[in-house]
Amino acid sequence: MRILVVGAGGREHAIVRALRRSPQAPEVLCAPGNPGIAADARLVDVTVSDLEGLVLAARREAVDLVVVGPEGPLVGGLVDRLGRAGIPAFGPSAAAARLEGSKAFAKEVMAAAGVPTGAHTVVTSVDDGLAAIGARYPAVLKFDGLAAGKGVVLPAGEAEARAALEAVLVERRHGPGDVVVEEFLDGEELSLLALCDGERAYPLAPAQDYKRIFDGDAGPNTGGMGSYSPVPAAGAEDAAALAALVHQPVLDELAHRGTPFHGVLYAGLMLTADGPKVIEFNARFGDPETQAVLVRLESDLAELLLLASRPGGLADAPALAFSDDWAVTLVLAGAGYPERSASGEVVTIGAVPDGIEVTHAGTALDAEGRLVTAGGRVLNVTARAATVGAARHAAYAAADEITFEGRQLRTDIALRAVDQEHHDRRRG
Ligand code: AMP
Ligand code: GLY
Repeated sequence: MRILVVGAGGREHAIVRALRRSPQAPEVLCAPGNPGIAADARLVDVTVSDLEGLVLAARREAVDLVVVGPEGPLVGGLVDRLGRAGIPAFGPSAAAARLEGSKAFAKEVMAAAGVPTGAHTVVTSVDDGLAAIGARYPAVLKFDGLAAGKGVVLPAGEAEARAALEAVLVERRHGPGDVVVEEFLDGEELSLLALCDGERAYPLAPAQDYKRIFDGDAGPNTGGMGSYSPVPAAGAEDAAALAALVHQPVLDELAHRGTPFHGVLYAGLMLTADGPKVIEFNARFGDPETQAVLVRLESDLAELLLLASRPGGLADAPALAFSDDWAVTLVLAGAGYPERSASGEVVTIGAVPDGIEVTHAGTALDAEGRLVTAGGRVLNVTARAATVGAARHAAYAAADEITFEGRQLRTDIALRAVDQEHHDRRRG
């Protein structure tokens, strides 16, 4: 079996590693990949935005499956093109990927499917935006399109709200698109990803992501600064119940509309006092949730992703199995992230213990062949252990071995779960 993974980040590195653990020993290719992925897959020199180039590469390499990592090519229709070329692909069609590409579309589907989510208004002008916030304060402002995790603002007051609305609706910071004004939801946040075969949703182990740049959830939103899995607030049964409440009705609704969803349906959930509510959908594996979730997967990922590309294909798969271990993933980001991304800083990776996964998110080789930074999020470190405390400790010890100028690292990843663990032990 030969599989082509599309993407160049830490998520794709984790997917490549998990595919290589398949008992079918697939040959894994990655386009375009990065210097870290090069150690685990054969790189194909095509960028993620060159959709036709990716189809040609998949055909030339006679791959059995293409696994699409990032949202850009999904929303752009890569899976549709591969389908027309007769190449099986794991990921949604452009029509189904609109769940991520348009927040307004996602809200409309949730309303039709009866899925709980915050109340919202779509606005096209700064005045309408301020009026909508006035009617529903505190509110969250969301750009209605792709913004690499940076399209959400939680304004602290009217001045901040006005500035955020102007940046999107007047200055067009993220390109054309409206703003969704959404009710602020309070509670524990949870990422629940499910493998979907167009008909049914099969939840993966829950994970928690840390979106803000600084400790204590301070500072602006990022693509994600760390993650851990499982999540004390959501056990295995809860994951099934959540998928029945959220993922399955959405899948049914999209199938009913003639645009079945294949791939990963990622629900960002808030566990509020009024029950779980959807914050957002993504149409792909999360980054960095995937790093913490896939190291715990004991099932054959290659088989699962191939089956998910066929209508109802996962009905034939054995139940998903995860180890009882905890996994903690840290993101090492460069100076200035998320406002800007520094590049060209030399990266030194010291003696990282065996069993620690170092995945590359934004790295390159310079003219002298040295590993250098090449993106906002540079490297991820994932550790596994029987307790979340031990996994956390091992992850931070390994991260200490990695240095580069301007390195940013949150120090409180998975601390919530460690506190919970101590609390349970005292009670237990
Ligand atoms: P999104 O890109 O929609 O996932 O939003 C990024 C982050 O902003 C989320 O992970 C939450 O931490 C926060 N957020 C988004 N929407 C809301 C909301 N309605 N209430 C509270 N926090 C939110
Ligand atoms: N970690 C959030 C995301 O992948 O969108």
